[in-house]
Amino acid sequence: MSDPTRPLTTRDFLAMKRAGTKIVSLTAYDALMARMLDSSGVDLILVGDSVNQVVAGRSTTLSATLDQMIYHAKAVQGAVRRALVVVDLPFLSYQVTPEDAIRNAGRVLQETDAAAVKLEGGTTMGPTIRALVDRGIPVMGHVGLTPQSVHALGGYRVQGREEAAADRLLADARAVEEAGAFGIVLELVPAALAARVTKELSIPTIGIGAGAECDGQVLVLPDMLGMNPGFTVKFLKRYADLDGIIRAAVSSYSEDVRAGTYPGQEHSFE
Ligand code: KIV
Repeated sequence: MSDPTRPLTTRDFLAMKRAGTKIVSLTAYDALMARMLDSSGVDLILVGDSVNQVVAGRSTTLSATLDQMIYHAKAVQGAVRRALVVVDLPFLSYQVTPEDAIRNAGRVLQETDAAAVKLEGGTTMGPTIRALVDRGIPVMGHVGLTPQSVHALGGYRVQGREEAAADRLLADARAVEEAGAFGIVLELVPAALAARVTKELSIPTIGIGAGAECDGQVLVLPDMLGMNPGFTVKFLKRYADLDGIIRAAVSSYSEDVRAGTYPGQEHSFE
């Protein structure tokens, strides 16, 4: 286990894989939550472009912007002492040219102090990942269900079920590793295929809907905290019912305000 008093680096994640230490990861988008996750020992905090859905209320991640990601990443990084903060590069900030990717990922590192970026795609993104890594920008890959391609994939569905698709996914994961990424997210991948990828790669795999054999797991924080009860998906385990807790607290406050019992004397200034 790494020294709990110093910030984790990308090298620690490779060491964790070699040691068989599972990597704990969650998303965060603001300082309040990031501080709680960090002090609870979460290893990797992802400022995911899922922020565009769960915070900004948009239907997909596609309309997230670089400025939006930088805004949230600054808040998260400023609150974190130990965890590695990884920031999603939004749609069209890295797909057009490697030069764009360098400039935009460079802005993320420069303006937020975060230590790494994440981008979606396998073989086709290999040269871009290489270009970033060669310029000193650590990259985490993301294959399987890649939400920025949701329209091309025909929805949020499990990837790599058929043999040919599984072979392609494995080739994509290998390409991400060969291009120099320090880790890779496997999203909505059959457990046996994720286990195979995890065994073949020397970089850690972080699963979401990809079974227990990945080197680590990530979940979208508001989903696992039960803040979004309308969202149900097989892989999601709810560890709390914050929706219920928040609603109860707001009802209780509303009753007090309407009854004139809040604020009491103890909450008022003489
Ligand atoms: O944007 C995000 O939160 C992600 C996770 C689902 C891995 O990419």
